[in-house]
Amino acid sequence: MKRIAVMTSGGDAPGMNPAIRAVVRSAIAYGMEVYGIRQAYSGLLAGDFERLTNREVSGILQRGGTILQTARNDEFRTPQGQRRGLRRLNEHGIEGLIVIGGDGSLRGALALHKLGFPVVGIPASIDNDILGTDMSIGVDSALNTILEALDRLRDTASSHERAFLIEVMGRNCGYLAMIGAILGGAEITMIPERDMELSEVAARLEDAYLRGKNHAIAVIAEGSKHKINEVAEYLEGHNVGFEVRITILGHIQRGGGPSASDRLLATRMGVKAVEYLRDNVGGVMVGLNGQTLVPVPIEEVTERTRSVDLAYYDLADILSR
Ligand code: F6P
Repeated sequence: MKRIAVMTSGGDAPGMNPAIRAVVRSAIAYGMEVYGIRQAYSGLLAGDFERLTNREVSGILQRGGTILQTARNDEFRTPQGQRRGLRRLNEHGIEGLIVIGGDGSLRGALALHKLGFPVVGIPASIDNDILGTDMSIGVDSALNTILEALDRLRDTASSHERAFLIEVMGRNCGYLAMIGAILGGAEITMIPERDMELSEVAARLEDAYLRGKNHAIAVIAEGSKHKINEVAEYLEGHNVGFEVRITILGHIQRGGGPSASDRLLATRMGVKAVEYLRDNVGGVMVGLNGQTLVPVPIEEVTERTRSVDLAYYDLADILSR
């Protein structure tokens, strides 16, 4: 395999740039040419390819976001779009493709695999909602951002004897909320995988107040059954002792430079993806199994998203007393 391409797709994640850098530097070391595809499948369909050398990936190891940019594209969800994408790859003499992204991006990679084109996926999603890997690129960095916010909010909450409701990202998977709550010392966690009724939220906050806590924190995943504003409105009508304030962290969780852990994971996965293409191991995603990288068939990771291990839920409850 002498010419490959790489793209970043879906929601951006800290660590995408280290992964791009590792793909480029290792592919060149293995005697390959590397092309970057700008703006994911939109760029693929537009034929927006640019040659990447070691120089183009200098100085990006520490940068959040992605130098190749990303986009969400509906046309590539269609068979016609997928065939047009394959045509573009062949027009440019590309023999293999590396897709760095989440479950939607990997479904696009699977479509190319089914058309017989060698693809390797690298899991990148701050939600940690991708099956087949213990960890995705971006999760650790996003967690560090969440913890910095929680620690700051705890300062002001305890100064004013307030309860803070904090929304974090995670449409289908409550991993960020769950681990953020445990490591941030929150009293309440609300996640898509486990409903908590509003009456229980109020009861837990009142219990914390009556036990003499000078603040309380509830971490709410954006995909939870009850949304943050609904929780706040309910608490308005039920005196739990604390004044209540809300903070929505939003897209700051997607920005910022990648952590050491994400730089290492992204670098390892980038090199491994190139080696899979070199060794004709296509149609797989690079998955982390413990400390080992393994090839996982892409069709096994695109059927649904990963859920958080509910053992953490019970742990959070014990630790929040
Ligand atoms: O999938 C990662 C993610 O950050 C989700 O947590 C969030 O709901 C979604 O992307 C936001 O998508 P967008 O950036 O397109 O608004």
